[in-house]
Amino acid sequence: MVSNKIYILLFATFLFVSACKKEESGNNEPHPPVDSTIVLTPYEIAVPAHFPNMIIPETNKPYVEKIALGKMLYYDPRLSNDGRSCAGCHIQAHGFTSPRLVDGMPVLPHVNLGWYSKFMWNGSQTGTLEDVMLFEVRDFFQADLNKINADSAYHSLFKKYFGVNTITHQHLAEALAQFVRTLISRNSKYDRYITGREDLSYDEMEGRNLFFTEKGDCFHCHSNPMMTDDDFHNTGLDSVYNKEADLGLYRVTGIATDKGKFRTPNLRNVARRAYFMHDGRFTTLEEVVEFYNSGVHKVNNLDPIMTKPGKENGLGLTPQQKYQLVAFLKTLTDEEFLQDTAFAQRPAAR
Ligand code: HEC
Ligand code: HEC
Repeated sequence: MVSNKIYILLFATFLFVSACKKEESGNNEPHPPVDSTIVLTPYEIAVPAHFPNMIIPETNKPYVEKIALGKMLYYDPRLSNDGRSCAGCHIQAHGFTSPRLVDGMPVLPHVNLGWYSKFMWNGSQTGTLEDVMLFEVRDFFQADLNKINADSAYHSLFKKYFGVNTITHQHLAEALAQFVRTLISRNSKYDRYITGREDLSYDEMEGRNLFFTEKGDCFHCHSNPMMTDDDFHNTGLDSVYNKEADLGLYRVTGIATDKGKFRTPNLRNVARRAYFMHDGRFTTLEEVVEFYNSGVHKVNNLDPIMTKPGKENGLGLTPQQKYQLVAFLKTLTDEEFLQDTAFAQRPAAR
């Protein structure tokens, strides 16, 4: 315990020193003295045993106080200049996504993002969660730093927990990343099945078998246990790219073979989404399954998995098999995650 405290003090000092260094360049404001009475509480991110290790940068280790600060920002409409908060579109009851399209796109869910390195439907952001959060607050929200710095609650919380007198977009991004990293779904019926705590029904089990064998062949991209390979694929949704947005990764890289490639979506809580695919073209899981069964277009950069021998004319699923595949997708819903009060907005604690 004692050594833990020393470590935290050292860490707090390090944070303070590095923050000062950053601010030295453009800012002549006098720096506050290091407050050695502040002791942060380390937070152990409970990575489920059946998950890989999460990506956590050394420079933004999780602390209870910083996570709470990140949550406060997540729910605060003052972070934007037009009354939006992150939670206005990323709504917990909908798996931190939205029942509406935004700019013709489904809102991507905030679930298990701590394992991602590629973000957005077309991969336009890459790096750590801190990097994408910096984009969100600085470029997407254009958060007004004067307004945030003038808020006495934020001023004192950032001073206490980040050791800084002037809040920058980077500090906001780090606090948000702390909170979003804790949004872990680990207790869907399917997780309980994997960890031997609950059986799947007959149809769910048959659906699972279709998903994880060559017959359905979903698992090559929606791979266990995250339900995404964090990579890009052209699944043959379009034969002609009618909309700019349908070009996917190509819009980021400009490489012809990246046309129509999108990042494999995480399928957790997928049954709770109102729209599917990068432009929300499908509104039911049955339509999605029918697409994989019979709607794949044979474009020249189609992912090879989509046309493996035996699949030249689609998957050939029976109505019952399609039903079973949907039944399996529904086992990925995690009620505990959708209702966890640790993630929910509470009256701002001040
Ligand atoms: C107006 C609605 C809206 C608001 C408000 C909003 N987002 Fe989003 N968010 C979206 C949409 C739409 C996407 C998908 C965009 C894309 O792929 O280009 C998205 C994607 C993301 C992603 C990428 C997720 C992934 O799986 O790659 C992150 C991270 C994110 N938002 C964080 C935030 C944060 C943090 C805030 C608050 C600062 C915020 N968002 C506010 C609509 C919104
Ligand atoms: C070659 C990789 C690949 C394979 C194989 C694959 N998927 Fe996908 N899946 C993707 C990609 C990429 C997207 C997003 C496409 C887009 O938005 O245009 C996607 C989207 C989805 C979505 C919509 C998710 C959302 O949030 O919009 C569902 C559901 C889905 N796939 C289920 C399946 C099922 C079931 C199978 C097997 C029958 C399967 N996938 C096979 C890569 C794959």
